[in-house]
Amino acid sequence: MKLLMAAMINLPLLFLLYVVTVHQTPWPFTLLLFSFLSASPFLLRYWLVPGGFAWRNHHVYSPHLRGPVGWPLLGTLPQMGPLAHRKLANMAASLGATRLMAFSLGTTRVIISSHPDTAREILSGPSFSDRPIKESARSLMFERAIGFAPSGEYWRHLRRLAANHMFSPRRISSLEPLRRRVADEMVAEVNKGMKEKGFVVLRGVLQKGSLSNILESVFGGCVLHKEELGLMVKEGYELIAMSNWEDYFPLGFLDFHGVKRRCHKLSNNVRNLVGQIVKERQKCGNNQTQNGGNDLLGALLTLPKEDQLSDSDMVAVLWEMIFRGTDTVVILLEWIMARMVLHQDIQAKVQQEIDAVIGNRHGNVQDSDLPNLPYLQAVVKEVLRMHPPGPLLSWARLATHDVHVGKTFVPAGTTAMVNMWAITHDPFIWKDPWTFRPERFIEEEDVPIMGSDLRLAPFGSGRRVCPGKALGLATVQLWLARLLHCFRWLPTTQHVDLSGTLRLSLEMTKPLTCQVVPRTTDM
Ligand code: HEM
Repeated sequence: MKLLMAAMINLPLLFLLYVVTVHQTPWPFTLLLFSFLSASPFLLRYWLVPGGFAWRNHHVYSPHLRGPVGWPLLGTLPQMGPLAHRKLANMAASLGATRLMAFSLGTTRVIISSHPDTAREILSGPSFSDRPIKESARSLMFERAIGFAPSGEYWRHLRRLAANHMFSPRRISSLEPLRRRVADEMVAEVNKGMKEKGFVVLRGVLQKGSLSNILESVFGGCVLHKEELGLMVKEGYELIAMSNWEDYFPLGFLDFHGVKRRCHKLSNNVRNLVGQIVKERQKCGNNQTQNGGNDLLGALLTLPKEDQLSDSDMVAVLWEMIFRGTDTVVILLEWIMARMVLHQDIQAKVQQEIDAVIGNRHGNVQDSDLPNLPYLQAVVKEVLRMHPPGPLLSWARLATHDVHVGKTFVPAGTTAMVNMWAITHDPFIWKDPWTFRPERFIEEEDVPIMGSDLRLAPFGSGRRVCPGKALGLATVQLWLARLLHCFRWLPTTQHVDLSGTLRLSLEMTKPLTCQVVPRTTDM
């Protein structure tokens, strides 16, 4: 590295000498060239450090640091596209930096772990319990919701409220009738699609079902403005997924892609619409609702005075639940169904398991059947391993103070990521990591997925682990069992394409289209 730096520093001066003597260049141009070239050694000195430009003042304190130098000023930003998780995994492997790699996103210092040990230090230790917040997330009110609130008293209060009123086991089981009703609606939609078009685009069916499910669990039955809220979620996803230059450079006064303007408009619309729903409910009271107030809004409105949230904070929390609860479930289920269409033998094996559990009982799969479906659960785990919806765990962490990760010194204010995709595809950790084989969790080792084992932690881990993991899994498993029990799923002439695009989550690039054949008589 030192040799390279010396060469880079001397080359520009040699070049200048050559240009001036050989080409007899006019003096103003020579002067300009001279100023630029004499500044370049300093530019190069700051840029050519492990991890790149953003680490220029810190690399001397972190002698163990490894990482790509990246582009001048931009750092590794150009690599952060739809395949960022794969590119970062390759970089870390080629630099021997899987435990910890440093890189720069513009002026932002970043570290990334692609190893369970350092991932645990980042996710479960107390030093990374905040999240860096993007400008778009801030203006969409997420700073006042669980996901981005700094880890103080307010954030703890929100997590407690959510744990008691949205994600407790009692509440999850009280929502079973809703999940089953939405499953009926999805089955009807699949039948309708087959009758009308001869094929089904599953994503649309899942999005409609998942939105109904989360809206009812948050606002209770008879939610008006469903479509409008669905469009707002879609727009919010687009805006947060967009890379905005001002997040990585101090360019707050600019609005390159109109992201600021769109965020501002969207957050006003959300405030108005969700605020209106809250006001109507405050006027009518919980008893006027279909479910007698058994929903998150009802619970928030009847909290003891000292626990109550202000109206604007309540809007932020309700909006976050709808925002997070809709697409995560859709994306995971679409990947699972794609695998089921692709591996017909595995699909048949899950269906046999479901048939055996339901037997001659009249009716559909229910929550109490799920513990008796270990192969179905292994399928879900294997999809979470091969296609984790948050390959970089979606939302990064922020070092709240100076800390060591392994032997590496990490200064306060550094963004920390975990590349879960790299960990779940590491051949030193997983046998045949590229092979889809749910049996590995039954015949070899049943690795837990809720965050205690960092070899497979698709919901994150530690204090900021996903609070919706049990609700999300209960929904995905029940709907999967129902869809596989009702239909045999077949490919269309367009074969299943497993390419993924990383936006906010890792989505299938091409929506899954398939055909179905009914399996049960009550279709
Ligand atoms: C089913 C698929 C889901 C996956 C794969 C998933 C994944 C994740 C991940 C990786 C994180 C970051 C954890 C960390 O930093 O350690 C997270 C956080 C979060 N998730 Fe989920 N999630 C899912 C479902 C849900 C659902 C259904 C909800 C709510 C209805 C939800 C609400 C949240 C919230 C509020 C946070 C922020 C927690 C905090 O910062 O304290 N998630 N999720």
